[in-house]
Amino acid sequence: LFVNASEVSAKTIPETLFGIFFEEINHAGAGGLWAELVSNRGFEAGGPNIPSNIDPWSVIGNESSLIVSTDRSSRFERNKIALRMDVLCDHDGANMCPAGGVGIYNPGFWGMNIEQGKTYKLVLYARSLGPIDVSVSLTGSNGSQTLATTNIVASDVSNWTKFEVTLQAKGTDPNSRLQLTTIRKGVIWFDQVSLMPTDTYKGHGFRNDLFDMLKKLKPGFIRFPGGCFVEGEWLRNAFRWKETIGPWEERPGHFGDLAEDLGAAPVWVFNNGVSHNDQVDTSAIAPFIPEILDGIEFARGDAKTKWGSVRAAMGHPEPFDLKYVAVGNEDCGKKNYVGNYLKFYAAIKNAYPDIKIISNCDGSSGPLDHPADMYDYHIYSSANSVFATAQKFDKASRSGPKAFVSEYAVTGNDAGKGSLLAALAEAGFLIGLEKNCDAVEMASYAPLFVNTNDRTWNPDAIVFDSSQMYGTPSYWMQHFFIESNGATLLSSTLQANPSNSLIASAITWKDTEDKKYLRIKVVNFGSDTVKLQISIDGLEPNSIQASGSRKTELTSANVMDENSFGVPDKITPIKNGVDDVGEDMDIVLSPHSLTSLDL
Ligand code: AHR
Repeated sequence: LFVNASEVSAKTIPETLFGIFFEEINHAGAGGLWAELVSNRGFEAGGPNIPSNIDPWSVIGNESSLIVSTDRSSRFERNKIALRMDVLCDHDGANMCPAGGVGIYNPGFWGMNIEQGKTYKLVLYARSLGPIDVSVSLTGSNGSQTLATTNIVASDVSNWTKFEVTLQAKGTDPNSRLQLTTIRKGVIWFDQVSLMPTDTYKGHGFRNDLFDMLKKLKPGFIRFPGGCFVEGEWLRNAFRWKETIGPWEERPGHFGDLAEDLGAAPVWVFNNGVSHNDQVDTSAIAPFIPEILDGIEFARGDAKTKWGSVRAAMGHPEPFDLKYVAVGNEDCGKKNYVGNYLKFYAAIKNAYPDIKIISNCDGSSGPLDHPADMYDYHIYSSANSVFATAQKFDKASRSGPKAFVSEYAVTGNDAGKGSLLAALAEAGFLIGLEKNCDAVEMASYAPLFVNTNDRTWNPDAIVFDSSQMYGTPSYWMQHFFIESNGATLLSSTLQANPSNSLIASAITWKDTEDKKYLRIKVVNFGSDTVKLQISIDGLEPNSIQASGSRKTELTSANVMDENSFGVPDKITPIKNGVDDVGEDMDIVLSPHSLTSLDL
């Protein structure tokens, strides 16, 4: 490998080259990154009509003690369903309630992770024809072991009343549930029952362990909220940002501080009047455009603007630094896409000339037939094909819009549930993007998260359940690229590349103290050990020394090896010192490995 360190032929890598893509899939948000423990807290999951399904809430009691139903009596206009309990038994008399009471329980998203010593804030709304005495408890999965308990007692709740209590757990169980029970005869309505751990990331409602996994990737940007989630199966259930703001009791979705907390540039993907199954004709798209302009104003407008003032009233007076919007997701080729795109493009550029607009149409092989600042490119394929696609952008235009590789992953048999093989092919692909950083602006793996109980899409970067998580090799592979954003790409050439199984790049980057490092990354995609001779030209004298130099490797005995809850660290980067450093040096590349050399 010949590396020219003189920087004469070097390129600056965009600050945004490597980022993340967060989409609501596999319970990535609800039951995942979002720390809410109650599933279906507003009883709306069965839809807006009654009778309705209250799943996963379940009944404690039998027909002679309790009748549970739903009605449309909620005080929240946009979430009208409430749960009604007709309690038939009583604390005395002929029909005595069982000792533990009757009521309902919620098992969360496949179990609530309740931990000893931690506190949990419960909010609920209740109404009743008479006084209420409700026992609130966190219990083990079968309701037996009580981890925390308190009572909600009130003499007059004839109008909907909000109750807030804090529970401190005296035991740990990742499979806990929340119970609301009573031994008092009467009719009680419940609505908007929320249970949040009090120690979420900065109090913003993100689960700390999963948030940390994202933070460690140092993402240059975050694309959100989809994916297919943006399109919807039908336009009637496409993502609509206005439904995600305001009091949580009134909204069917949520819109958080994720980009800001990660220090990542937000990339907002919006629906352009096209879903999976229906679309709006360009002649009728005009009413959709103010919705998007309002959304941009909500993010960027100051507190004097209509929507900026809504954001400010929600507690965020400073505008968000929204510089990128993507028009739709995987919609190019659909009948109305380009027509609709042009309408959104003109309106956004007119109001916000600095915003970069991303088209769904692939511009890697030839010029687009419409204006764009960037074009979206997705690749899901076998390991060989993803590895071979490293050269895809070698010939892409350097003068037209740049690529946003917003979804990439090895899929199918090569991927297992997150194999080393997949990660190595993806690493090779990313090295190809790095070498083409004058044609590619951004790239993100997809999908980011999977709750192991809802593996809708496989594979994924971070796997979790209520209490555990681990990174797949594809997650750890991305750690080799976290210093690349804003770094300098050096010219590097592999002089010999048997079977084309190697790919390499070299960058220089500076740490926060302005100390400069040289990093060489190599993927050995083949099954043989390779002794790689490295020659570095143009180095400043004494700029590399053995002390502080290190080799980091991602590999395993078997290329199909995976991480798991049982062995979460089977395939993670392993760091070692390197002794023999200099302008000419040899390194040994293990079979099926990703290696970085920091000098
Ligand atoms: O990331 C999984 C899905 O793959 C995305 O929602 C969609 O854009 C693509 O088809």
